Amino acid sequence: MHDPLIQALIDIHRELPRKGPGDDDLSRQLMAYVRPLLPAPPRMVDMGCGNGHSAFLLIKELRGHVTAVDFAEPFINELKRRLVNEPITPVLGDMLKLGLEPKSVDLIWSEGAAFAVGIDNALKTWSSLLKPQGVLVYSDAVWFTPEPSAEVSAFWQTTDPNIRSVGENINRAERLGYRFLAAHSMTQTVWWASYYDPMKKRLDQLEPTVSSGTLMADVIASARREAELFKRYGHEYGYAFFVLQKR
Ligand SMILES: C[S@@+](CC[C@H](N)C(=O)[O-])C[C@H]1O[C@@H](n2cnc3c(N)ncnc32)[C@H](O)[C@@H]1O
Repeated sequence: MHDPLIQALIDIHRELPRKGPGDDDLSRQLMAYVRPLLPAPPRMVDMGCGNGHSAFLLIKELRGHVTAVDFAEPFINELKRRLVNEPITPVLGDMLKLGLEPKSVDLIWSEGAAFAVGIDNALKTWSSLLKPQGVLVYSDAVWFTPEPSAEVSAFWQTTDPNIRSVGENINRAERLGYRFLAAHSMTQTVWWASYYDPMKKRLDQLEPTVSSGTLMADVIASARREAELFKRYGHEYGYAFFVLQKR
């Protein structure tokens, strides 16, 4: 059973095509970039996989096998419903306690999920699962400016107080035993199309069913505010992908 806030966040993301911002074209480019660094077929893990959107893309682009883990049962059920016979193993569980053998994974892919457990924790824990020279690709929100506006800075303090700049992400990765290979940012247009637009439709459907003053009403209001702030301050922060290799 999740904390009521986490459960409400899971509920507003049910049946959304993605549970966070993402860009299939950019993901395909990054998969092509890491392909020569991996053995064939690669053993892969999608950490915080949501409904497995990236896991399916990984299989298409890189073949091999994906373990797709998420602690939200409704998302894992969505993944299971989409599965035909792709070599994807859905796991309902904590992405920091996967129980895979140490040094057994070639590629860890994680979109928009590492921040939930703290990027430091994720990078440290996942490093022990990776084979030497194994690759980690993660995405997260980042500041594009050293001095973000007070309004948006205050909002992110409550949503993800550990949001960092691109440079700080790179330095941290190097400090934690990874070689930095590449960073790419996602455009605002893609963020809207992949996440906020479908999310707004979902909130419009949900809102009339929710009583005011409830936790769910607060979560809906906060999601709307997040999108509104992105409209105004999307030049000050955004989503970036980091490609790292275990040393
Ligand atoms: C922003 S969503 C991204 C989901 C998916 N990667 C995507 O791009 O659609 C973050 C995901 O991380 C999952 N998550 C958060 N903390 C987790 C944990 N400790 N273990 C497993 N999954 C977790 C959430 O349930 C959610 O599906």
